[in-house]
Amino acid sequence: MIQPFQITRGPRVRYGRGEAAFVGEEAKALGMKRPMLLTDPDLSAAGVLEPIIEGMKKAGVDFALYDKAEPNPSDESIPLTRAFYESHGCLGIIAVGGGSAIDTAKAMGTLLSNGGKISDYYGVNKPPKRVPLFIAVPTTAGTGSEVTRASIITDTERKVKAGIHSEMLYADLAVVDPALLARLPRPVAAGALMDALTHAIESAGSKYSGPWTEAMCMRAIGLIGQHARRFVADPADPEASGAVSLASTLAGASFTNTGLGIVHALTHPYFMTFGGHHGTINAILLAPVMRFNLPAMREKYAQMAPLLADPSTDPRDPGAAEAAIEGVRALGRDVGIAPSFRAYCGWSDEPLDMMAREAAKSATVQTNPVFAGPAEMKRLYLECAG
Ligand SMILES: [Fe+2]
Repeated sequence: MIQPFQITRGPRVRYGRGEAAFVGEEAKALGMKRPMLLTDPDLSAAGVLEPIIEGMKKAGVDFALYDKAEPNPSDESIPLTRAFYESHGCLGIIAVGGGSAIDTAKAMGTLLSNGGKISDYYGVNKPPKRVPLFIAVPTTAGTGSEVTRASIITDTERKVKAGIHSEMLYADLAVVDPALLARLPRPVAAGALMDALTHAIESAGSKYSGPWTEAMCMRAIGLIGQHARRFVADPADPEASGAVSLASTLAGASFTNTGLGIVHALTHPYFMTFGGHHGTINAILLAPVMRFNLPAMREKYAQMAPLLADPSTDPRDPGAAEAAIEGVRALGRDVGIAPSFRAYCGWSDEPLDMMAREAAKSATVQTNPVFAGPAEMKRLYLECAG
């Protein structure tokens, strides 16, 4: 029997190649006045914003460009973006970028609507009021942030990643245009898509997973399994970029309902200690964590096997779940993910206990299918250390 479930209200989604040209029209229709176009310096310099800017001009929408969004935005960067928004008399936010630009927009929007400081809103359902009018335009196939209610901020004082999780953070509209992925550097393309794959696999394993979100996860996993290698070889490939950007948005739409698992719990302390790219760190952890979760996930992993390994794999085969895990390992290898932490941003045993304790505090422990405390986290780190 199908168990009861609920689905959250998310942003309207406009998906398709060339759809970024309609961002201006949409901004106007939403009632934005001089919106803040928020992005990062690399995207601005690479000309990724061109179709959006052209569309804004065509629609007669004046805007204020802010291209200083930080990667892994810190609590200190948010008041600066807010000051820019207020001093330019903006009404509306158009965030263009990976998770960092979109998460910056959500955090800034939270301060604009609610005042106070960003740490007041860490946790679940803290901001009482919605962010201002907001369009999110992803330029990677990874975070799914355009459709999620989360903003992840680096807390500089406590040296941890903190999350604001609230429906008040949803964008009004997500414009998902695969053509914007064309100029992604390959390592970023690979890391981001492994983040999307992690979202889909962790969401499918969540205690809150149900048939609605599972359908999105399985579709996302299938699209990534089939197109990831081709996408990383050429991020401009229309078919492959179309498939992985849809997968990323589907995975985001799923995990905003279900939460994630302990890959994400383990990734944040590693990042805070050694640095690196969020998706790439996830990719190193994903197969070992799948093996850890296997006792609770055998049936679901078996369903994933034809999507991630040999398409002719029969999910009823006794080795199917293991084949899915090996499929994830092979995919990481093929798209150029480092085999271990030591081979990526480095490793030392010294901060291990601290990292394991931090990981065990993550909210994603609650939604992971198998319990993991500090001892289990430590074992998983060591397995990935290399
Ligand atoms: Fe992620």
